[in-house]
Amino acid sequence: MFQCDIRDGVCLKLLEERHAPAVFAAVDRNRAHLRKWLPWVDDTTSVGYTLNFIRTSLQQFANNEGFAAGIWCGDECAGTIGAHKIDWLNRKVEIGYWLASKFQGRGIVTDACRALIDHAFEEWKLNRVEIHCATGNKKSCAVPKRLGFQLEGVLRKAQLVGGKYLDSNVYGMLARDWKKRG
Ligand SMILES: CC(C)(COP(=O)(O)OP(=O)(O)OC[C@H]1O[C@@H](n2cnc3c(N)ncnc32)[C@H](O)[C@@H]1OP(=O)(O)O)[C@@H](O)C(=O)NCCC(=O)NCCS
Repeated sequence: MFQCDIRDGVCLKLLEERHAPAVFAAVDRNRAHLRKWLPWVDDTTSVGYTLNFIRTSLQQFANNEGFAAGIWCGDECAGTIGAHKIDWLNRKVEIGYWLASKFQGRGIVTDACRALIDHAFEEWKLNRVEIHCATGNKKSCAVPKRLGFQLEGVLRKAQLVGGKYLDSNVYGMLARDWKKRG
C-alpha cells in the first residue's frame, strides 16, 4: 500500500481496484454536490464505472503519466485528487480534485494539493502545475488562490457540465515560485 499522510488521520493513497466500492459510495452520497461542477458524475451509475476509472488511472501510473489518489479520513473515502496526463515535453501537469460535502471547510484539499504539488516539483521535476476551475466555482477557485497560484487567464466555454458550457479560470504555479514559498 502506498500512502502519504497529509495531517493527523488524513492521508492520500494511490487508488487501487479494491478502493472502488468506497470511492463509488462517496460519489453516490454526494451526487447533488458534485454534479454542479464535475461532468462525469451522472455517468457514474455503478461501482463498475469507478473500477474502470481506477484501472485507467493505474495504467496512467504504469505509463509514468501521473496518478490518482484517494483522500482518506480514517477508513472513509473523503474524495480524490489526481494528476491529468503529464506533459513531459513541456514538463507540466494539471491537477484536479473533489471532496465529499461533509469534509469541506477543513483545508483537506488544500493540504492534499500541497502534497501533490510538492511531488510534481520535487519528484517529477516538473516546471509548471495548472489548476482549472469553472469561474463560478468559488470554493474550487479559492484552493489555488490560497496556495499562491496566479490567475493566468480564462478559457471560454471550456467545460461541458450539466448541459452547459462553463468558462474556466486557469491558475498556474511555477517550480521556482513554489520553492520561494518554502
Ligand atoms: C472544490 C472543493 C474540493 C473545495 O473544498 P473545500 O473544503 O472548500 O477546500 P479545502 O478542503 O481546501 O478547505 C478550505 C476551507 O477550509 C477552511 N480551512 C480550515 N482549516 C484550514 C486549513 N488548515 N487550511 C486551509 N483551509 C482551512 C478554509 O477557510 C476554507 O473554508 P471557507 O470556504 O469557508 O473559506 C469542494 O468544494 C468540492 O469538492 N466541490 C465539488 C467538486 C469540485 O468542484 N471539484 C473541483 C473541480 S475544479
